[in-house]
Amino acid sequence: MPGLDVGARLDQTPFVESNQQVFDDVAASFTEMSLMPAERSVLRRLAPHIADLDMLDLGIGTGRTTWTYAPLVHRYVGIDYSPKMLAAARRRLGHEPGIELQLGDARDLSAIEGDFDFILFSFNAIDAVPPDGRLQILDEVRSKLRPGGLFQFSAHSLGTLPFDTHRPYSARLADVPGYRLYATVAGVRYARRIRRINRGLDLSAARRRGWDVIPSMAHNFRIRDYYVDPEFQVRQLREHRLEVTAVFDTEGREVTLPHPSRDPWLDYLCTPI
Ligand SMILES: C[S@@+](CC[C@H](N)C(=O)[O-])C[C@H]1O[C@@H](n2cnc3c(N)ncnc32)[C@H](O)[C@@H]1O
Repeated sequence: MPGLDVGARLDQTPFVESNQQVFDDVAASFTEMSLMPAERSVLRRLAPHIADLDMLDLGIGTGRTTWTYAPLVHRYVGIDYSPKMLAAARRRLGHEPGIELQLGDARDLSAIEGDFDFILFSFNAIDAVPPDGRLQILDEVRSKLRPGGLFQFSAHSLGTLPFDTHRPYSARLADVPGYRLYATVAGVRYARRIRRINRGLDLSAARRRGWDVIPSMAHNFRIRDYYVDPEFQVRQLREHRLEVTAVFDTEGREVTLPHPSRDPWLDYLCTPI
């Protein structure tokens, strides 16, 4: 099974380069343009002053969030470290006036001019960075945020583990001839792969530590992601002088911690302290 071979190979390679390579490989599949519920919740909060805000968007992929935010804010800067993702974003949106798109790594924002009222790192992109890089990013973000500014990012939750072995059916494809047979066969393979990943988890150790790095559901398990205990995430942010002001579930509802759901990720909104 190709996915397992890739997984075995990734186990032996330094994972930052691997994840960056995978993002390059999958750029063509990033076609979504709408905001996610938690992003809409924060956008509603920003709305009264949005035209005055300078925004830095990290890991923009092919420009999903650029599409919504760039025309609304005062200044929009978007970066991504995948040349193919950035090229796709440029093809889609680079011609729009007032959009600054740059190839760049969120671990080093020294090449980005100025500072910002709102910094976004959406769709769990921060989780693809190794643990030490994550801390560098928090420091870089902190240094680029104006007093009273806001940083929003989403991060995979440890509480979602172990993974559910059921592969969800696609309601959109349900009536496509052959889909049900395909989905049944794919579901058996998926369950086998998940059981293998679940067997490799040491959840007690991960809960004690507050995080773990494991093969991620995203991109057919080709990347490895950081999964974090939400309360640990809040403490980690505080150590990097960022205070969480709100946490949102995948439906965009504000939640309080500890949060018992098994949502695959949560969105954190924080401000510099
Ligand atoms: C899951 S995609 C999300 C794309 C987009 N933010 C969205 O929400 O649709 C993650 C993106 O973050 C980028 N990325 C991951 N780590 C990065 C880093 N350290 N610096 C810049 N971009 C990064 C990847 O290349 C990829 O385009």
